[in-house]
Amino acid sequence: KTDPLVVFTPSGKRGHFPVGTPVLTAARQLGVDLDSVCGGRGICSKCQITPEFGEFAKHGVKAEESGLSEWNAVEERYRSKRGLKPGRRLGCQATLQGDMVIDVPVESQVHKQVVRKRAEARDIVMDPATRLYYVEVEEPDMEKPTGDLERLQQALFDQWGLAHVIGDLRTMQMLQPALRDGEWKVTCAIYEGEGLGAARIIQVWPGFHEGSIYGLAFDVGSTTIACHCVDLQSGEVLASSGLMNPQIRFGEDLMSRVSYSMMNEGGAEAMTKAVREAANALIGQVAAEARISREEIVEAVFVGNPVMHHLLLGIDPKELGWAPFALATSNSIQLWAKEIEIEMHPDARIYILPCIAGHVGADAAAVALSEGPNVSDDLVLIVDVGTNAEIMLGDRDGVLACSSPTGPAFEGAQISGGQRAAPGAIEKVEIDPVTREPRFRVIGCELWSDDPGFERAVGPQGVTGICGSGIIEVIAEMRLAGVVDEDGSIGSAAATGTERAVPDGRTHAYLLHDGSESGGPRILITQADVRAIQLAKAALYAGARLLMDKRGVESVDRVVLAGAFGAHISPKHAMILGMIPDCPLEKVTSAGNAAGTGARIALLNSAARREIESVVRRIEKIETAVEPRFQEHFVNAIAVPHKVDPFPRLNS
Ligand code: FES
Repeated sequence: KTDPLVVFTPSGKRGHFPVGTPVLTAARQLGVDLDSVCGGRGICSKCQITPEFGEFAKHGVKAEESGLSEWNAVEERYRSKRGLKPGRRLGCQATLQGDMVIDVPVESQVHKQVVRKRAEARDIVMDPATRLYYVEVEEPDMEKPTGDLERLQQALFDQWGLAHVIGDLRTMQMLQPALRDGEWKVTCAIYEGEGLGAARIIQVWPGFHEGSIYGLAFDVGSTTIACHCVDLQSGEVLASSGLMNPQIRFGEDLMSRVSYSMMNEGGAEAMTKAVREAANALIGQVAAEARISREEIVEAVFVGNPVMHHLLLGIDPKELGWAPFALATSNSIQLWAKEIEIEMHPDARIYILPCIAGHVGADAAAVALSEGPNVSDDLVLIVDVGTNAEIMLGDRDGVLACSSPTGPAFEGAQISGGQRAAPGAIEKVEIDPVTREPRFRVIGCELWSDDPGFERAVGPQGVTGICGSGIIEVIAEMRLAGVVDEDGSIGSAAATGTERAVPDGRTHAYLLHDGSESGGPRILITQADVRAIQLAKAALYAGARLLMDKRGVESVDRVVLAGAFGAHISPKHAMILGMIPDCPLEKVTSAGNAAGTGARIALLNSAARREIESVVRRIEKIETAVEPRFQEHFVNAIAVPHKVDPFPRLNS
């Protein structure tokens, strides 16, 4: 009689095993992805499986002979103390008695996919650099004098096959009490990522550690710093928070911060201190929200543009302020959190993604990791819009990258009624092409300005200003309604046929909203505002166009707008303005905070770190400042939508 057949789903892996083989053992031998932290001792419950009685016929398994063992004492004890979902068994305790189809639920897979919301995005596969291992360590013995650390290392090798695991003084300090409190059983958090030359014990807990371990994904932007706190075992995001970058007080945009460091003795140090303090404050916030302590956070990944990257690391960014824009390093960086005064677990590791070029940072690398232009079948243009646009163009055949100095206009700065995206800010605008009367929506309110009840619904702050996406929309709508011409000039009331075109010095402005009667602001779109947006969008377009030249193409297959601003921008209005090259509108998508997602991928999957390092090495970097055609493209792109390039899809 042949040994029982076991088929694992969803992998479809199958094999014959002697009666009495634990399911976990069979899974291991077949290379089935089934988790275990306790090494099969019936403690961790990570190995849960589901016998699939309905699946026999499909897999050619004979139902009448199927079976798993009865519940043994260990499994019973686990079920009565902790409970198991109906239908679930512990894979390390249940043994094969006959043919079986066994399903490994997602929670029990080590390399589980953490599903992302967008259909076109790649899923994140769990493969964290730091993991938990439960071990039973031999007790010390007068006959065999060995140290506790050496016996722990031996146990890790014997029970988990982990060779060369190192521990330092801190490990030794916690190990002795932990071993004795846990009656020679401990759980270790072990960092197996690269950079240390060996796996490294980060933390030791007595007995089985009931909690999890956590990591942080940081996106350090010039304007905001965002942080996600993630469970390193489940991949779940437990808390997310953001703060204004306190470096704003040293300069609104990147270059003004670089000049602050050049002009002020100790300027770079002050900005480094500010960003680290903000990061530490954010860690406090997300830890509180996730109900964990800082000490349970054992890893963090940081991404940011080159200036933020240098300042976080305590490197003076002044070399980034002048040609040839030399980075301190373009490689990825691994260090101890304490080296840069980041307050989490005392031995937490930090990974920083590689930078692409002097103006294209680790944030762009993270966007590349999240959006995968290098594995795209069609030619994709990815634009991360901030005070400095980072632009990538590519597909499987190669990726090009550049940055373009758009300035802060897209974020509402240097715009007369401009403000950051916050409740009360106008974010959507429509202008009637016949009457030229506007209607708009503000952040935090579902109603349009001409809906009944708008005043009440908008909240006590009223209409406060206009944010970046609102400015794009209003100027595009002004262009459509003929209030603004191709050169970007706002016409007079007589020329445009609307009283909303009011004189403003020697030029005209468009009155979008007049809240002065109720003590609110008059929101005017001035000629200077239109000019500021023209310059910003021309810089963005010229960068994209330059990459298209280099690639030798006249059009792209799709456009991805990344960044928080990209998430709110309307593709139609962006194209009316000529911010992005002509492309079918349905092919323009938003990737949301792709840099933050890329940081999360690198946090949860250590192989992705190697992947992006190699992708970045292969990206062709284009320096816009030394490309004569950039200037030419820039000048042509000042017109709305463009002086020479066609936008055939806009006309249809
Ligand atoms: Fe830990 Fe089964 S492996 S309970």
